[in-house]
Amino acid sequence: MTLPVLIAPSVLPADFSKLGDEVKALEEAGVDLIQWDVMDGQFVPNLTFGPDVIASARTHTSLPFEAHLMVLTPDVMAKKYVEAGCSRLIVHAEACTHLHRTLENIRSMGATAGVALNPHTPASEVAHVLDLVDLVLVMTVNPGFGGQSYISTMESKIRQVRAMVDAAGLADSVHVEVDGGIGPATVSGAASAGANLLIAGSALYRDPKGLRHAVDDLRAKATAARS
Ligand code: DX5
Repeated sequence: MTLPVLIAPSVLPADFSKLGDEVKALEEAGVDLIQWDVMDGQFVPNLTFGPDVIASARTHTSLPFEAHLMVLTPDVMAKKYVEAGCSRLIVHAEACTHLHRTLENIRSMGATAGVALNPHTPASEVAHVLDLVDLVLVMTVNPGFGGQSYISTMESKIRQVRAMVDAAGLADSVHVEVDGGIGPATVSGAASAGANLLIAGSALYRDPKGLRHAVDDLRAKATAARS
């Protein structure tokens, strides 16, 4: 049985001067978890959240935190993000010379592990590590910034990853996540291709009817697309 539709915000568009209030508002809006887009200015041309920033928001919500590590050296910082309160760490296959070992190390810290694939990276990159993850993230933009356009050609890769997860008998334990340009006009395509965990940043914050409406609308559209 495939895991349920989950909606998670990217915190990138939030007001960084009041992150505690922002995560509280996201919880009240009904998101299922919070994704922190961690960027090191090397793997991607942007710099965002250190572990202390995430730790400062940890006490303001009971929601799970996942860190999307868009960093060149995930092994160096992984433990700090777990200690900051992230229960899942997502590493990029492109940044890991020894991906299998990196995932094992993350699990040894008591966190769950996910693998992210940039648009050019084939689904086959995760073929031999599916037993170590609870999430595969198909990037639907090139990482580094919010507010970019959804790359619809990634839907074939979403289908491939979904097929791999299902064929491995992991549909009830491994999420297929998408991130980048997810909004009312694109969420159905991603969900019908097999994504169940949807990350949205700008689409949540630019909804004139507010966060709750944006979350409910994405959830409803994704659920309808899967049925
Ligand atoms: C890219 C970031 C963004 C962000 C979501 O590195 O990971 O994809 O989470 O941004 P939106 O939803 O605004 O495209």
